[in-house]
Amino acid sequence: MRFARLLVTGGAGFIGSAFVRQAVTAGLAERFTVLDKLTYAGNLTNLASVADDPRYEFVQGDIADEDAVRALVARSDAVVNFAAETHVDRSILDPRAFFETNVRGVQVLLDACRLETQRAKERDRDRAPRFVQVSTDEVYGSVESGESTEDDRLRPRSPYAAAKAGGELLAFSYGITYGVDVVVTRGANTYGPYHHPEKLIPLFITNALDDKPLPLYGDGLQRRDWLYVDDHARAIAHVLDHGLTGHAYNISSGQERTNRDVVAALLAELGKPWSLVRTVADRAGHDRRYAMSSAKLRALGWTPTKAFDDGLRATAAWYVANESWWRSVRSGEWDTYYERQYGDRLAKSTAAG
Ligand code: NAD
Ligand code: TYD
Repeated sequence: MRFARLLVTGGAGFIGSAFVRQAVTAGLAERFTVLDKLTYAGNLTNLASVADDPRYEFVQGDIADEDAVRALVARSDAVVNFAAETHVDRSILDPRAFFETNVRGVQVLLDACRLETQRAKERDRDRAPRFVQVSTDEVYGSVESGESTEDDRLRPRSPYAAAKAGGELLAFSYGITYGVDVVVTRGANTYGPYHHPEKLIPLFITNALDDKPLPLYGDGLQRRDWLYVDDHARAIAHVLDHGLTGHAYNISSGQERTNRDVVAALLAELGKPWSLVRTVADRAGHDRRYAMSSAKLRALGWTPTKAFDDGLRATAAWYVANESWWRSVRSGEWDTYYERQYGDRLAKSTAAG
């Protein structure tokens, strides 16, 4: 075991909670602390299976809160930062929170790591903490052909992607300037259980289960590389353990699909008709395609294990079996968001051919 005390920020969300469930089960560290603000996307139910584990504790708080962050980082050997505003469509409606959390929040975490790195240099603590910034393939922007590799230029095109790029560039700068031990992961589009229903796959599964329209943006021929959540979480643990300081690692499955293919597959899985699919106005600045090579991480010993068809089947089955989870997530502010995002679009939609 390389780390005694792990701080996981944003651990109550989709991928962070999968990472925590895996890490606690595998005994990746001796103690696990989750710091999470519990925004609309955070959900303690996601961590229910580890809630009573004596090695685990939960702290509600903001990664941009300097005092809270300093105290927690001071007693951690490593920080894995999942905390972020994550939905591109929300970043288009209102970008401010994206820069608060995805840039300023990361800077606060990094500053606390900088302080502890300095203390380690002065031999005031055993060793400096490692900082893993969980980033995204979206920082590369739309990739018309071929696959992004880690040294490619970052060309983010949405406020979400630009803020994520800002966060990881800050992380690299703290590595160079202050000697903070930083590593960055760039994950592909992830899917699986506990995924917030604002995103394509869970939105379309839950709408289809209710026989509601499925709002497909534009021609639906945008392409994404789909990565199962447990494969993504395992990759982050692998980078935490084996990643070289100052490096970025792409995490992708190599299973590229058009949105139309994804929607057809999930409708077949649920036994629902294509007539539910509606063509709606496209997302502004919609990235046409993401594709990354994960050769660098594979050379470090990680491989994805889930075939897309199997992952989609497991995901659909999970939503069917966990209706109370998604009905509760689709409550509160959900209706206001849904109306703002889709009201006008659906009113002007056409049948998807
Ligand atoms: P999510 O939206 O499901 O969860 C985000 C979590 O962060 C929530 O629990 C939320 O409460 C918490 N949070 C938000 N702001 C916070 C703040 N200021 N302080 C503390 N906690 C805060 O997101 P996810 O899909 O699990 O993504 C996790 C990370 O992985 C993000 O950094 C995201 O950019 C990255 N990522 C996601 C994908 C994907 O397809 N979902 C792909 C690649 C990378
Ligand atoms: P999303 O799940 O938001 O992930 P990302 O924007 O990070 O790729 O969207 C995946 C794809 O699905 C993307 O091309 C946008 C499209 N999409 C729709 O067509 N309709 C929708 O309602 C949503 C949420 C997404």
